[in-house]
Amino acid sequence: MSEAVLGIIGGSGIYDLPGLTDLREERIESPWGEPSDVLRIGRIGGTKIVFLPRHGRGHAIPPSEINYRANIDVMKRAGVTDLVSLSACGSYKAELYPGLFVLVDQFVDRTSGRASSFFGKGCVAHVSLAHPVGPALRARIADAATAEALPFVQGGTLVTMEGPQFSTYAESMTYKTLGYDLIGMTAMPEAKLAREAEITYATVAMVTDYDCWHEEHGPVDVAAVVKVLHENADKAKRLVARLAVDFPAQRIACPVGSHHALDNAIITAPDV
Ligand code: ADE
Repeated sequence: MSEAVLGIIGGSGIYDLPGLTDLREERIESPWGEPSDVLRIGRIGGTKIVFLPRHGRGHAIPPSEINYRANIDVMKRAGVTDLVSLSACGSYKAELYPGLFVLVDQFVDRTSGRASSFFGKGCVAHVSLAHPVGPALRARIADAATAEALPFVQGGTLVTMEGPQFSTYAESMTYKTLGYDLIGMTAMPEAKLAREAEITYATVAMVTDYDCWHEEHGPVDVAAVVKVLHENADKAKRLVARLAVDFPAQRIACPVGSHHALDNAIITAPDV
């Protein structure tokens, strides 16, 4: 196995990662177009870190305009083996309160029109997404959250909507009734592309609101979301720092096979 390189994709409210040593900025070219920003590459402890703010610095790129393929591609080119995505999310469960971190293990994709694969005509591949989150990476994040005494829960289903508008009440009630735990706008197609790139992926869903189903909370209010976001951002940075300090030097085989997801996925004959 190769050197472990920890990628961090920062979501809303996380546009920088303090505490990186040997810090440099690198603009990596991608055949898939422009990524959201330059990469910030450095170290925490002995672990190499590659950071990318998903919405760009200053938050100028909306969820539907993010070039997810370029973002994952430049992470891969920078050597990232394990990718942690930090995402602000709404909650469908009373017990998943704003400020809590949820280490999700499942996704539902309700986005539309996003380029969601590196493969297509000429080279057809079907990777497994049955278990989209690397369980060993998720367990490491849980250990880091415990060590930092951050409130978190293990497991949950995150539905990704297209946005940028928040859900209607009917949509919110539908997702809640279906048993989903959280809603966001960016985990898909990021998780799909990471799997195609054989990068082990995990999302830390940072709860900012109750979407609009909760009688006592009413519609989502951006001002309230931003306030929680800022509190969550500090906790997320502590979480990443601890995760990095305790990270193994060599890539560890992913129990669900993220590190060799393409082994049996390409169906197109090699001579086509
Ligand atoms: N991100 C944060 N809160 C959200 C919500 N309620 N719906 C979709 N994305 C979100």
